[in-house]
Amino acid sequence: MDNLVDESLVVFVCSTTGQGDPPANMKKSWRRMLQKSFPRLEDLCFSVFGLGDSSYAEFNFMAKKLHNRLLGLGAECILTRGLGDDQDDGGMDKELSVWLSKLWPALCSVMPETKKAEVVMDPPDQLLPPLCVVEVLSKPEQNGQNGQSNSHFLPAAELIHRVELCSNTRITSAEHFQDVRHIVFKFLHAPPSYQAGDVVGIAPINTDDNVNSLLQRLNWKAEDYVQVKAVGGHTGDVPIYFNKPISIFDLCKYYLDIMGTPRRYWFELLSHFAEDEDEKERLQYFGSAEGYLDVYSYCNKEKRSYLETLGDFPGVQIPIDRFVEVVPCIRPRLFSISSSQAVDASQLTITVGIVEFKTPYKRERHGLCTSWLAELPAGTQLTVSLQEGGIRLPDPDVPIVMVGPGTGIAPFRAFLQERCAQENVAENVLFVGTRSKAKDYLYGPEFEQLQAQGKLSLHTAFSRDQPHKVYVQTRISEQAKKIADLIVDGNATVYIAGNAKNMPEDVQEALRSALQAHQDMTEAEAKQYLSVMKRTQRLQLDTWA
Ligand SMILES: Cc1cc2nc3c(=O)[nH]c(=O)nc-3n(C[C@H](O)[C@H](O)[C@H](O)COP(=O)(O)OP(=O)(O)OC[C@H]3O[C@@H](n4cnc5c(N)ncnc54)[C@H](O)[C@@H]3O)c2cc1C
Ligand SMILES: Cc1cc2nc3c(=O)[nH]c(=O)nc-3n(C[C@H](O)[C@H](O)[C@H](O)COP(=O)(O)O)c2cc1C
Repeated sequence: MDNLVDESLVVFVCSTTGQGDPPANMKKSWRRMLQKSFPRLEDLCFSVFGLGDSSYAEFNFMAKKLHNRLLGLGAECILTRGLGDDQDDGGMDKELSVWLSKLWPALCSVMPETKKAEVVMDPPDQLLPPLCVVEVLSKPEQNGQNGQSNSHFLPAAELIHRVELCSNTRITSAEHFQDVRHIVFKFLHAPPSYQAGDVVGIAPINTDDNVNSLLQRLNWKAEDYVQVKAVGGHTGDVPIYFNKPISIFDLCKYYLDIMGTPRRYWFELLSHFAEDEDEKERLQYFGSAEGYLDVYSYCNKEKRSYLETLGDFPGVQIPIDRFVEVVPCIRPRLFSISSSQAVDASQLTITVGIVEFKTPYKRERHGLCTSWLAELPAGTQLTVSLQEGGIRLPDPDVPIVMVGPGTGIAPFRAFLQERCAQENVAENVLFVGTRSKAKDYLYGPEFEQLQAQGKLSLHTAFSRDQPHKVYVQTRISEQAKKIADLIVDGNATVYIAGNAKNMPEDVQEALRSALQAHQDMTEAEAKQYLSVMKRTQRLQLDTWA
């Protein structure tokens, strides 16, 4: 992105995060691209593919904005942008297959004749050269991993912190379907400062059982030491485990996402190593553009992992360099910090919903990070990263309205701790929503105490405690006048956090109706009012899938 002026042909693949925001690794260059002084790009040919999710209102915003900005800078679009959608039946691959099939001819049409010969276009039977080499080391060396901790990892060194887990408490009743944990960490070194609204990144590790199953399946020896190097000695942006001696066991336990869901290329790659003709044929089909719907049903819907797919194709023996090339690193999961340093600067807490679900074919699945966290005892030391979150408190004299169903309550617990430690604080209004007061009223006693002290207006929606369903948006509608007046006359900031799906849209619909009914706005005016609120950070969302 930094040298666009010198480029003649660029294909952009761009995701969207937050609420229509650029991904972290694009933020800086995007800011630069928006500057008036950014040079014209009249010699650049481009196409954009967006990775998005249509359950977000700002569907593929960044891909669309990037496309428009490039056009505005005079660049030539050689192929209409593609907009991949996580929600598509077939996932991102549906749109990608269509877009890719047009990309190759489009690239060839603008490529100089001399270059065309070098282009390998989606070779069906040809295995491309490996991107890395794995050297087996003769002399074992220690690399200092420590059992259940994730002591490896993560982004820029200054963001990384060592913490110790102090307590790990279930805060839903034992008979409730979901296990939600309140986890307290204390910093092991001088505490860094974080703000209410920030998030913590935690990279999980694989279980010994799964690692051993993989090693057994592939006939690899746990204690063999290897060193992974990029082909050609490239040392730039390589995975963190490259270029250092590591046992095969540790490589698979701490780094490679063996429980992640494979993509089409995995099957294409496996097909080259299949001995059995039936397996080869099936793998080739899965790896082909035509097979994307079946791969989606087999892999994504059923949440099959790399490990599990190897079990389904027992005749395939994939070499370790190819395995390392295709299986990505375990990615850190983000959790909203649910505590404020105003209460205790030396620690942070998170509120974790342990992910457990059944697939359409009734296979039981567990979230990698949350099921690992659930098992961690007090005293475990971990590496975490602190990151700026998507929501921020206003000045104390501005009223706030917080809508946090389920674990969406996490950042608002931090907000309330912070606001309660401040002077001359305006009104705090909180809408919480769970299934039942008796079973999963997260932090209920804390919030009720604040209400009793006059520090909080609390509105609870327990969806299953009565014959009809009641959600946070129901309660907002009941409080419509108060909320509309607080927003317009009180200049309140409104926050929505939690598991996405339809909730953010339903809540915004309730806000729109409240403004129409009590602030004399038409539907269009109420919509416009909310969109200005979003632009000016008076309506902030922190939602996750
Ligand atoms: C900014 C931000 C803040 C967050 N804050 C919190 C927080 O405070 N608390 C919290 O608990 N989480 C929070 N999350 C979510 C968290 O990061 C993890 O995604 C989540 O905990 C699951 O991680 P995992 O490794 O256990 O699951 P994974 O192994 O990553 O599996 C999760 C995947 O499983 C699938 N899945 C999950 N449930 C179902 C289901 N019922 N049916 C079908 N498929 C399903 C989905 O594809 C999902 O993407 C936040 C996310 C973001 C981006
Ligand atoms: C916190 C979060 C916010 C997101 N916001 C949007 C959004 O505003 N618009 C959109 O189209 N997709 C959104 N998505 C979906 C991602 O763009 C999509 O899942 C994409 O595949 C992510 O790719 P990446 O993980 O490589 O960045 C969001 C996903 C997450 C986890």
